[in-house]
Amino acid sequence: MKIGVIDLLLASFIGGLTAASGPTANVLPHVIPSETLAPLLTKRYSGYVYDSSRPIPREMLQAILEAGRLAPSSYNEQPWVFIVCDRAKDPEAYQKALSTLVEFNQGWAKNAQVLILSIASSKSAHNNKLNRWAQYDTGAAAFSMMLEATSLGLMAHQMGGFDEEKLRKAFSVPDDFVPMAVMAIGYQGNEEVKPKKRKALKENFFEGAWGKGIE
Ligand SMILES: Cc1cc2nc3c(=O)[nH]c(=O)nc-3n(C[C@H](O)[C@H](O)[C@H](O)COP(=O)(O)O)c2cc1C
Repeated sequence: MKIGVIDLLLASFIGGLTAASGPTANVLPHVIPSETLAPLLTKRYSGYVYDSSRPIPREMLQAILEAGRLAPSSYNEQPWVFIVCDRAKDPEAYQKALSTLVEFNQGWAKNAQVLILSIASSKSAHNNKLNRWAQYDTGAAAFSMMLEATSLGLMAHQMGGFDEEKLRKAFSVPDDFVPMAVMAIGYQGNEEVKPKKRKALKENFFEGAWGKGIE
């Protein structure tokens, strides 16, 4: 579907309203670009309400992990470790993972079915030196998993709000690995899906030179 002038005007009007109302200046609703994007990208949503009564079939979980396995990485090192804590399979591990989250996150993530710990290696397998791309690669794998979860009708929500030391201890994470995030996955419950808020493209997408915001 083409984006009309009215849509653009409306979007900039709404954007202006939102910008005026909070600290996230120049936010725009996702209505402008989403029409031209792959639907999966706009469907993906980090919501807060999970249906605690619906477990995730194991085959779905396997597909999500496979999506992570297929992700690209520097030197194809796949420098990630994902610890899967499926409450249906190992409720103890699930509770342990949940307990590493900050209180706010525990409050909603306790209704998810699966918590996955994303962990990046800090050393490169091919020369044992610092792998400065490992965290980038781990994020890419995690995002691939989010997209696969979305395509299966599930909701994935990542969290940086966890106690790193607690997580390291609880899951015996070796020193040369860095816990990056915890991802909650489950069926979405009943909640209002809010429009995405993002900076204007020109704020952090530049055209050929630093600071030259792309139009
Ligand atoms: C690395 C990372 C850490 C995040 N940490 C938290 C968190 O601790 N708690 C939370 O509620 N959301 C967390 N989020 C979710 C973001 O708030 C969310 O992705 C953002 O608001 C955009 O919304 P969307 O994912 O629905 O597009 C995190 C997301 C990422 C990628």
